[in-house]
Amino acid sequence: MAITFADNPQQDNIVSLRGISQSYDQGKTRIIEGLDLLVEDKPAQGQFVVILGMSGCGKSTLLRYIAGLQTPTEGEVLLQGKPVGPDNRASMVFQQYSSLPWMTVLENVALPLQFAGMSRADREEKAMELIRLVGLSGHERKYAQYPTLSGGQLQRVAIARSLLANASIILMDEPFGALDIHTRLQMQELLGKIWNEIHPTVIFVTHDIAEAVYLGDEIYIMKAPPSTFVEHIHIDLPLYRNKEIKRDKHFVEMVYHIEDLMVKVADMK
Ligand SMILES: Nc1ncnc2c1ncn2[C@@H]1O[C@H](COP(=O)(O)OP(=O)(O)OP(=O)(O)O)[C@@H](O)[C@H]1O
Ligand SMILES: [Mg+2]
Repeated sequence: MAITFADNPQQDNIVSLRGISQSYDQGKTRIIEGLDLLVEDKPAQGQFVVILGMSGCGKSTLLRYIAGLQTPTEGEVLLQGKPVGPDNRASMVFQQYSSLPWMTVLENVALPLQFAGMSRADREEKAMELIRLVGLSGHERKYAQYPTLSGGQLQRVAIARSLLANASIILMDEPFGALDIHTRLQMQELLGKIWNEIHPTVIFVTHDIAEAVYLGDEIYIMKAPPSTFVEHIHIDLPLYRNKEIKRDKHFVEMVYHIEDLMVKVADMK
């Protein structure tokens, strides 16, 4: 059964997707149907929402709506109570590196403030704060390109830029999918640290269930197209986690539980 949300009069939901349907070829291909998602604003706490689902079910499509890169065939997409548009959208960290290779790390991170018309000195000062936060101090004058920077470092640039564009919400589409396991674990730690420090709302897509449980507060699972959310799991682990928790019995049980749900969901029509 699809998860739906009763009308919520509160306007400060950070993200609200209502009655979303996505089809192509004049309705012949139905990807998403009747999907609702409500991510409440939790000031000074933030929230970490993870979306799981098989390939092609529409996870990236959902993030694209919130980033203002696509509009659904039907339904409403609100960010902080207002329709998503050029002046009201979240920024996204993609699986593949999305920095501008002809610009330095500092210029890349400061880009959203440049678009906003902030002076060079001011935007560089703010960008330097974020560069420190993501552990790239000392690299700010390097070009944001591989192999000058490693894959993990390039993803840090993208995370810093997204946070500077809009620190209250960050969309991440399999951001660590292309990284080796060691770097991936480091990036999970970093994200945990950022989250503890500035409490953004994160909407995160991954295929890695352990990563989802480690980082997530709320996990939503989509079924195959025509897709909608069919499972919602609240992760009842401490808000502040460290990597030792991955060996914890409850953590491991949670991972298996979600794996079982994913198998069950795969057979849903
Ligand atoms: N222009 C289009 N015409 C037809 N189908 C499309 C079009 N754009 C996207 N799709 C389909 O929409 C579906 C959802 O794509 P999306 O990228 O959101 O999936 P996903 O859940 O992110 O998958 P993955 O886990 O592989 O990244 C896919 O099956 C894709 O083929
Ligand atoms: Mg995708």
